[in-house]
Amino acid sequence: MSALQVNDLSPIFGAEISGLNPRIPIYPATIAALRKLFDEKGLLVFRGLDDDAEFQSHLSGILVGEAEVQDDAAQVSPDRTSHTLVSNRKGGQGSAPFGRLLFHTDMMWAENPFRLISLYGIEVEQPTVPTLFASTVHAWNTLPADLRARVEGRFAIHGRESRTDDYGEVLVTTFGSEQTVELPIARRHPHTGETMLYVDQRSTYGIAGLSSEESDDLMAALHAHLYRPENVVEHQWRQGDLVLWDNLALQHARPNVKLEGPVRVLRKVYAPKAQISRENRPEYSIGR
Ligand SMILES: [Fe+2]
Repeated sequence: MSALQVNDLSPIFGAEISGLNPRIPIYPATIAALRKLFDEKGLLVFRGLDDDAEFQSHLSGILVGEAEVQDDAAQVSPDRTSHTLVSNRKGGQGSAPFGRLLFHTDMMWAENPFRLISLYGIEVEQPTVPTLFASTVHAWNTLPADLRARVEGRFAIHGRESRTDDYGEVLVTTFGSEQTVELPIARRHPHTGETMLYVDQRSTYGIAGLSSEESDDLMAALHAHLYRPENVVEHQWRQGDLVLWDNLALQHARPNVKLEGPVRVLRKVYAPKAQISRENRPEYSIGR
């Protein structure tokens, strides 16, 4: 059995793990240790892995309790593993090829978003653009009493069309049809049972039952709390990094990625596969 070394990325969440050999079977005791770490830390980082799509899918599935995973794209590699690319190179057929991404949970608008996202650095030229993470669980646990009273019993409205900002860098995803859902702001994590502060910067349109002014004001206060520096971990990409995170317990974001800037090609896998939507793919543009 390989011995895992674990180094915390922050006092709140995230761990870098070494000692996992991607070329040997992962023994049950190691699987149990990895699942426990994933539940506790929310974000696992492996550096310098010479991995392939099959290993990434395998490890992603292991962490959510199944052996097989696949993603939401039509791209299926010859080894029958499916994945998407997050790539700023033409012809990469990737998702989110350029622009800044506001903090979000993938498929925030769904009743039941999938639990895990993983990214692997296939080709990463420096200087590159990091991925940022913020903890929805820690945000709820530390929410000041006055803010907690303001969100008590309230629901937020989430939709598929991205919010934008004034910087002119935000990637806007547009789908053929709109779909909104109202969900409790204090939302229970379906696996860990922890309470999450369930609003994000990209997909949350507002707070149900409030005027737009009141809603904007409350959302701004919640965002300021969620994305304060102590609640954010930044991953600086290097080629060979494998990063896996809980899509509900953590939100993710990135600064602006430029098309034809330094090469940034990441392989993306979702898990579990039972929850994956195969709905129509979005169109991408830059907001304002
Ligand atoms: Fe995303």
